[in-house]
Amino acid sequence: MNALPAVNPARAGVALVVLGVGGVGRALLELLATPAAGALQLVAIADSTRQWVNPRGIVPARARRLLAASVQPRDDEALLGALRDSGLVEQVIVDATASSAVAAHHADWLARGCHVVSANKAALGERLEGWQRLRHASRLGRRRYGDAATVGAGLPVLSTLLRLCQCGDRLRALDGVFSGSLSWLFNNFDGSRPFSALLHEARQRGYTEPDPRLDLGGADVARKLLILARAAGHAIDAHEVHVESLVPGGLREVTVEAFLARASELDAPLEQRRAQAAREGRLLRLLARLDSQGRASVGLVAVEPTHPAARLAGNDNLFALTTVRYHDQPLVIQGPGAGAEVTAQALLGDVLALTADR
Ligand SMILES: NC(=O)c1ccc[n+]([C@@H]2O[C@H](COP(=O)([O-])OP(=O)(O)OC[C@H]3O[C@@H](n4cnc5c(N)ncnc54)[C@H](OP(=O)(O)O)[C@@H]3O)[C@@H](O)[C@H]2O)c1
Repeated sequence: MNALPAVNPARAGVALVVLGVGGVGRALLELLATPAAGALQLVAIADSTRQWVNPRGIVPARARRLLAASVQPRDDEALLGALRDSGLVEQVIVDATASSAVAAHHADWLARGCHVVSANKAALGERLEGWQRLRHASRLGRRRYGDAATVGAGLPVLSTLLRLCQCGDRLRALDGVFSGSLSWLFNNFDGSRPFSALLHEARQRGYTEPDPRLDLGGADVARKLLILARAAGHAIDAHEVHVESLVPGGLREVTVEAFLARASELDAPLEQRRAQAAREGRLLRLLARLDSQGRASVGLVAVEPTHPAARLAGNDNLFALTTVRYHDQPLVIQGPGAGAEVTAQALLGDVLALTADR
């Protein structure tokens, strides 16, 4: 692992590389063009095939145009070089991609002296070994890992949990609805329309992934649950989360088009569960749960009407934290858990926090 040459400590300031100019990356560039970004200096941006680098600074409002016209191929070393050549003391890489290959570099970047701020869950929420490597590299390089945007988009979930733990509180239980698309689907699944009709509408509204099985399979919710569980002190691995997939076995391996054409196969079993829950005065919700022993699960639960998840609307997320000190009623964090603008704001907040106490 090469060490970066020491930066010139004469120039205080923050140099920034932004990886990914999709929904979240674009919204971040817009925020960087506002006074809220202060003197942050954008020195490089990249998508999966191109990059644009200028250690003296890139005007955020022009960044996407420059990238679109760029013929510079992707090269991480040139990005790190731009941070170094900026001469600024704080050097930050923002990951606004969904790429596991990009996430695999986070620990290395921390060890080489960069802060990393990520909306990408792959490094924190997959294998335990990857999460441990990040923590080790962060301590070793004395650099921060900004993770606010990995759970709940802009909602202050991880920061609240960490603050409680820092104050000696302990998580006894966590449960909630961690997916905007699954929230919308079950908030609207009242028996008046088949589940597959709701699924098609959710997809048209852009609430689901292009392949809705990524939502229905529960893996994305499981990653968020793992990130929270680990932050609460449970060193659990991905295979230890019990995940109930809503995708029938016969539809898991077919093409997206075939899955969408056969989505009505989901209707009968889900309607049966909904009707059974309704007879008991309950509602179906796709809940993520963690208990005090670190047992983690994701699956469909029939909740009482008094459960906080029963009162959700739209595609809100909900995180209910029962702790030693919040024992009678949980501390509840609720609101939009997706959206490029709020996610970008969480990224900017993490970048600004890097320097706030220095
Ligand atoms: N959207 C939300 O509401 C939300 C909320 C919370 C968290 N997140 C997370 O935020 C991340 C970004 O989401 P998004 O909605 O903006 O995704 P997106 O629209 O699919 O954009 C992804 C971007 O990453 C780029 N990319 C892929 N591989 C790359 C690489 N190796 N190097 C540099 N750039 C690369 C893509 O470039 P190409 O176009 O060239 O492929 C694209 O610009 C994801 O991890 C997502 O889970 C999103």
